[in-house]
Amino acid sequence: MLVLGIETTCDETAVAVVRDGMEILSNVIRSQEIHTKYGGVFPEAAGRSHVEALPVVIRESLKVAGVSLQDIDLISVAAGPGLIGSLLIGVNAAKALALSLEKPFIGVNHVEAHLYAAMMREELPIFPSLGVVISGGHTFLVLIESIGSYKKIGSTVDDAVGEAFDKVAKLLDLPYPGGPEIEKLALQGNPAAIPFKAGRVKESPYDFSFSGLKTNVFYSVYGQNGVKTGPCPLTDPEKADVAASFQETALKDVVRKASSAQKAFNLKAVYIGGGVSHNRRLGTLFTEEVKDVPVFFPGEGLSLDNGAMIAGLGFHVYTNKGKGDSLDLEPETRAGNRDFIKIK
Ligand code: KG4
Ligand code: ZN
Repeated sequence: MLVLGIETTCDETAVAVVRDGMEILSNVIRSQEIHTKYGGVFPEAAGRSHVEALPVVIRESLKVAGVSLQDIDLISVAAGPGLIGSLLIGVNAAKALALSLEKPFIGVNHVEAHLYAAMMREELPIFPSLGVVISGGHTFLVLIESIGSYKKIGSTVDDAVGEAFDKVAKLLDLPYPGGPEIEKLALQGNPAAIPFKAGRVKESPYDFSFSGLKTNVFYSVYGQNGVKTGPCPLTDPEKADVAASFQETALKDVVRKASSAQKAFNLKAVYIGGGVSHNRRLGTLFTEEVKDVPVFFPGEGLSLDNGAMIAGLGFHVYTNKGKGDSLDLEPETRAGNRDFIKIK
């Protein structure tokens, strides 16, 4: 089954063609540069950019895959969570395609797709396993019983870990998105330079809290009573130390909580998804910490927002349901961390 996957939840316009949920024939991603100058995603501009980019990206994706629209068997689209103006563009494009091609259409959850990205490999997924979602909007641990069946183990009570990377980057005057910038700068710094601490949530060993860590970074840069009115006062080596110390603290917190959940629930594998999974230091820390079971990261081009994970998951959702969604499906905007769909 050939699936066209459309992703427009935030600031990436992405379209992919995937066969049977696994074989990626194309995975075209167009990132919107416009947000860099705003230091974050400007929703109005994101929606407008999707309108311009989506037809081009669809055509390019079909071309790379060497297939025509008529060859597509199913249209899968990320139906939420995300920005409403962005979601509407992808969802309506998917509906229009399905209607005109007389092909089924399916809406999938973007966050669930991030988790599925790590399962897109030749070998069958291993269950029950631990899912670790670490993106700009979400941070949580789930027990994966099968594709489509999850139980929440823990989540952040405030900021998502990617959001913390983005906010700390802003304090250091680094451009958006901050995650890759912090990672780059951290390579030149000393991760033990500043003894930051990640947040602990009382009586919830698998929950996360990153807002205190972000505040501590603020204090270490601008002082206890400081305010950020101008450029970051640190020298470049000092900035690198802050980046490295923050990164080490945030990532170790994720890895330790994930590892202890894997052991406590006796899970047979760990699947990691979301933009922060792109961080190389995270890979090293996981390898050091989790030794008894395999840890799977998304493959090349599957960590950040992409259409392949949407097409891949769409195949399973459609097969499990035995039918497509109706064309009156509405996009779901809610992006709270306690809001992951279908969690029992
Ligand atoms: O999954 P994603 O593309 O979008 C959401 O669904 O949120 O994740 C984007 C997030 C941003 O916060 C970005 O700063 C972070 O992932 N990120 C990283 C890295 N690359 C992207 N964080 C740490 N290290 C990276 N290399
Ligand atoms: Zn995402």
